[in-house]
Amino acid sequence: MALSTPHGGVLINRWNKEFDYSHIANSIELDNISLSDLELIGTGAYSPIEGFLGQKDYESVVNQMRLDSGYVWSIPITLPVSEEKAQSIAVGDELRLDYEGSTYGVITVSDIYVPDKQKEAELVYGTTELAHPGVAKMLSRGNVYIGGKITLVKRIEREQFSEFHLDPVQTREVFLSKGWKTVVGFQTRNPVHRAHEYIQKTALETVDGLFLNPLVGETKSDDIPADVRMESYQVLLKNYYPLDRVFLAVFPAAMRYAGPREAIFHAMVRKNYGCTHFIVGRDHAGVGNYYGTYDAQKIFSNFTAEELGITLLFFEHSFYCTKCENMASAKTCPHGKEDHVILSGTKVRELLRNGEIPPSTFSRKEVVEILIEGLRRHAVQS
Ligand code: ADX
Repeated sequence: MALSTPHGGVLINRWNKEFDYSHIANSIELDNISLSDLELIGTGAYSPIEGFLGQKDYESVVNQMRLDSGYVWSIPITLPVSEEKAQSIAVGDELRLDYEGSTYGVITVSDIYVPDKQKEAELVYGTTELAHPGVAKMLSRGNVYIGGKITLVKRIEREQFSEFHLDPVQTREVFLSKGWKTVVGFQTRNPVHRAHEYIQKTALETVDGLFLNPLVGETKSDDIPADVRMESYQVLLKNYYPLDRVFLAVFPAAMRYAGPREAIFHAMVRKNYGCTHFIVGRDHAGVGNYYGTYDAQKIFSNFTAEELGITLLFFEHSFYCTKCENMASAKTCPHGKEDHVILSGTKVRELLRNGEIPPSTFSRKEVVEILIEGLRRHAVQS
């Protein structure tokens, strides 16, 4: 068997740049999240989803982590609008989906519904606290959800790193052309530090290829900007990875910070990109102290291997051990905390913003140089 079967059996394709929408008067103005979701639905990254979720699917996803059809799906992909806007929309309407003066898609409205956002917060994010960036974002968006199949009519133009924007059809072609039968996907919203490198390479010892697939959609403001990260990934790969066994392309979705629920979503999407394996380490997609260190691994036990259709590779919290003189985890290292180099993301960002260099046991020097320079550039710009 070569590569993974897309979630739901077939890769959805709802991209039609010839689609004539000139007759459609009414439109919905998208935000950054729904714009990226629109494109990811259209290109099949979110297969088997074909549009923004209708009420049945939404409730099923929130309550049971499944679409109404039964397929595993853990994050509601919704199109929120204001109550006022909703007044102008009726079931059966076709609407343009616009962003800053351009039309990117069309939706055929099947559902107009008022979600229980407190319940969505509780069940999807595990908290209703506004301090959680995913919850705050979700609550700040419109209070009425519009559901319906979409057609993607225009692609987002990217000035930077356009060569790293590939659709699932294209990543699958790349993997096949390299002769890979097994590919491990790696999600990240951070620079790749030594612990990330360690778990990636440990996985790579047993599969044909590594798909480094950083999320570059909307993230919270104190995360390292995507352009700086992209530079850092390239320099890291060039210096430390076997280039014929690793492939870098971006995942243009927004970060939800939904921890366990988002880990499932991340795995299903990587399956669509062609991955046969997916890495879930410590506190995957977590933020603050909202989730237990391994909750994002445990949640997969709700599903059978067949339902998931991708092999999960779970990793323990990894670190450099000064006694072992090696990267390790509690599974492979007998030494105590005092011998382990562990820095929090917040601490590292603080060091980098001050131009200070984290130890080489934490991050490669070439990566650090790019990060310090990139953050300086961004500080000057803002
Ligand atoms: S996120 O996208 O999951 O929020 P992050 O970039 O922090 O981002 O992590 C990427 C992947 O590496 C996740 O699967 C995470 O669980 C794992 N990970 C991060 N740091 C470590 C670590 N020190 N040890 C083991 N796994 C880690």
